[in-house]
Amino acid sequence: MNNDSPQAASNQFFKTRLGVIAATVGSAVGLGNIGRFPYEAGNNGGAAFLFVYIFFVVAIGIPVICAEFVIGRSTRRNIAGAFRELHAGFPWNLPAGTGLLASFLIMGFYSVVAGWTIYYLYESFSGFGGIAETAQLHERFDAFTQTPWKSLVCTLLFLLVNFLVISRGIRNGIEKFSNIMMPLLVVILLAFCINSLFLPGAKEGLSFLFSPDFSKITPGVVLSAMGQTFFSLSVGMGTLATYASYFNDRTALVRTASVTAVSDTIVAILAGIMIFPAVFSFGIQPEAGPRLVFEVLPSIFMKIPLGALWSTLFFILLFMASLTSTISMTEVSTSYIIQEWKLSRKKAVVVNAIIVTVLAVICALSFSVLSGIKIAGMTFFNLSDFLVSNILMPLGGMFISAFVGWRLERRVLRRQLTPEGHSARTPRYISLIVFSLKYVTPVCIFLVFIFGLL
Ligand code: PHE
Repeated sequence: MNNDSPQAASNQFFKTRLGVIAATVGSAVGLGNIGRFPYEAGNNGGAAFLFVYIFFVVAIGIPVICAEFVIGRSTRRNIAGAFRELHAGFPWNLPAGTGLLASFLIMGFYSVVAGWTIYYLYESFSGFGGIAETAQLHERFDAFTQTPWKSLVCTLLFLLVNFLVISRGIRNGIEKFSNIMMPLLVVILLAFCINSLFLPGAKEGLSFLFSPDFSKITPGVVLSAMGQTFFSLSVGMGTLATYASYFNDRTALVRTASVTAVSDTIVAILAGIMIFPAVFSFGIQPEAGPRLVFEVLPSIFMKIPLGALWSTLFFILLFMASLTSTISMTEVSTSYIIQEWKLSRKKAVVVNAIIVTVLAVICALSFSVLSGIKIAGMTFFNLSDFLVSNILMPLGGMFISAFVGWRLERRVLRRQLTPEGHSARTPRYISLIVFSLKYVTPVCIFLVFIFGLL
């Protein structure tokens, strides 16, 4: 370990084991699980998508999370500094560049959707203007996103909260936050799942999510499932490496990686169980896109007792879940700016906020005034999502895994991955992880790219 590193100097470690888990799970669980997973599954054939997704989480997700953790904790530096310290020259250090780019782009579109949670929180108070019809809720969503000032105010409000938390640093900000919010989110999701099981479309919804029609698996579906894996696990852009640079030496990396992946997948499946019965009960299109959850949930809330209360609670939690994710995205570039440009945390946050705000404004306006501007047939909002999830994150993941699998000294890897650090024999799970990092992950990602993008 490096004792004169910036993190060690400012003593910014996560305080407790629970804090580490809560922060990594907090990063992973967010709009990606509750908003994006259901619509990606809806767009890509439901259960078939879910099965490919789970395969990727196990075969690629967990090993790449471990690889990121190793890079971060063994160097205790930001993503660019970490690769430098590990003597990773070009092209191994590519993930530093793609990761930083991704961290800005992702904030641009993610904060727009996170801003929607603020608007829906406000709508919850008004009981959605008394509307219960799905079609009208659909129009109401359009009316909101197509009004530039409304969507801008919500996005900017979200960014403000995000940067305030980030500027307070690791311990105070992130840890306290995640410890309380995550368990609460799971409890409320469970309550909604149970409610959904009693809806008239429950059977259809569950079979859409769980009985696969494998003929629906196309290269495009596989690419989307891989993109969703990276997006949902926050892996491939240095977020987890950055967090791991704040772990102490006792944090068990493989266990933390597994707990993160499993919890994240459970939350995504719960979100699916909550959404799809409602989709089929209320005649909503499963392919509705990012708006899906924002149309489905109010339709549920308007039909249950104390709906306004449930709705308020739900959107508060969704807001919090988004925030714990954006905090982690922002940390990639913030720690980079602090350490590489030698700026104070406050100044780094300001620089970051300026760049992200410009991108977020463009994304927010791509539902209204900028909706006509399309690149490769996509609005700026959709393009950012596509670029980050389907290209930058998997590409970063490919290089991270190949680097750790092929180039990193095995001694470093073993010391980081074995909790005691020095058992005589290499534990079996480490061999499996190394096997995936060397062969499975890079080859899979490469093939999916070739077939999915052509
Ligand atoms: N995993 C987060 C989610 O599911 C999104 C995220 C991606 C967070 C990349 C950090 C880095 O919402």
